[in-house]
Amino acid sequence: MTDTLSIKDNRTGKTYEIPIQDDSIRAMDLRQIKVSDSDFGMMSYDPAYLNTASCRSSITFIDGEKGILRYRGYPIEELAEKCEYLEVAYLLIHGELPNKNQYEEWKHNITYHTMVHENVKKLLEEFRYDAHPMGMLISAIAALSTFYPDVKNIFDENSRRLQIYRLIGKMPTLAAYAYRHSQGMAYVYPNNDLEYAENFLTMMYKPPASSNYKANPVLSKALDVLFVLHADHEQNASTSAMRGVGSTHADPFSSAAAATAALYGPLHGGANEEVVRMLEEIGSKDKVPEIIRQVKEKKRLLMGFGHRVYRNYDPRARIVKKIADEVFAVTGRNKLLDIALELEKVALSDEYFISKHLYPNVDFYSGLIYQAMGFPMDIFPVLFAIPRMSGWLAQWQEMLADSEQKISRPRQIYTGYPERHLDSTPRQ
Ligand code: SDX
Repeated sequence: MTDTLSIKDNRTGKTYEIPIQDDSIRAMDLRQIKVSDSDFGMMSYDPAYLNTASCRSSITFIDGEKGILRYRGYPIEELAEKCEYLEVAYLLIHGELPNKNQYEEWKHNITYHTMVHENVKKLLEEFRYDAHPMGMLISAIAALSTFYPDVKNIFDENSRRLQIYRLIGKMPTLAAYAYRHSQGMAYVYPNNDLEYAENFLTMMYKPPASSNYKANPVLSKALDVLFVLHADHEQNASTSAMRGVGSTHADPFSSAAAATAALYGPLHGGANEEVVRMLEEIGSKDKVPEIIRQVKEKKRLLMGFGHRVYRNYDPRARIVKKIADEVFAVTGRNKLLDIALELEKVALSDEYFISKHLYPNVDFYSGLIYQAMGFPMDIFPVLFAIPRMSGWLAQWQEMLADSEQKISRPRQIYTGYPERHLDSTPRQ
């Protein structure tokens, strides 16, 4: 027995031995399969990359069948229970958890990069009051690249480290500024004495005239755990955007703006907002059967359900459900929870959903917590983007260091016209 795939091309009768490594074959090894020597050679065709590995990565491991998620080998359940978000961000980017001194230095550097240039406020002022904060965030991240000419030094380790501090540090500030703009409220500057999630809540909610505002510690802690859960998720659509744009050697701010744009989509990070809109539309438990019927008739998606990788319960959804109880003890129960629980109960006992492996994903319950914490719905995807920045940066760094990687440029199967000429093509 050998670690090879024997492929027989029945068009020519030739057979090929294709090496197998990591239970995979290299698509380029197919190119030798030709009918005539002048052929381009065989490609693999995989729309939406359902079964294509784009890279080797040691950052995050997911077992979709078993509902397992690990960052650098640590189970998400342990990290969510025992680590702060910035510790996990360090782990994703450096590969190991920080010791005490490393953590203090990491937190100090990120804390001292939370401020943004005053011009950013003028940029945000130009948006309408009702601009979606994700559109503002995408623009602001891209705009920030113009404030730091050194962002282009992507092969300088010190420059990369500085850009990482800046991007992780400034995401909460940009997010809070976008929110305050939408509320017509003065911005609240970051406070270097506060921890990451607490600083964000303070910039979001501190009344301008108040001098003794303190974010509720239960809510700060709950948000920090939610940040841990959202920090990375291997080669999802927004991470693939980060890697794809980064593969052109664009700077990390421009790559992160592209990743944020990908996350905005309702099929991805925008789902947490759509879940709550769906639950509000349902309005009561007795309307759940009607929604289930519409879903089964393919008239709509059940937002917050399903996942490309998880064919089982998303382990993050389980943890989010637990956090909900802690938050609701402070904020009061979100009445939409009853509808969500009923929807989950009915769906998980229905053959249609079971056969399609449709389980709640990380977005199904997170929006209920955000809403109970007072966040407006259009901020929900922003709350996803803030922590995912560390995952995007970890993946971006890994891509740059990977000698097998080069500019990302897929091929295609051409289905258009053969050659034709203008003078022989009558205009309709
Ligand atoms: C995130 O990739 C990641 O890791 C993402 C993420 C991360 O941390 O980065 O985990 C975060 O984006 C979570 C997903 C949030 N999105 C939603 O909740 C939106 C609703 N979900 C669906 O759009 C869908 O499940 C996706 C986009 C999440 C996954 O889509 P796939 O893998 O392309 O699955 P599919 O569309 O091929 O669906 C397979 C079948 C189809 O039915 P058939 O054609 O076989 O008859 O399942 C059905 C789909 O119609 N289906 C659903 C459904 N999701 C899939 N039917 C109803 N409701 C749904 N939510």
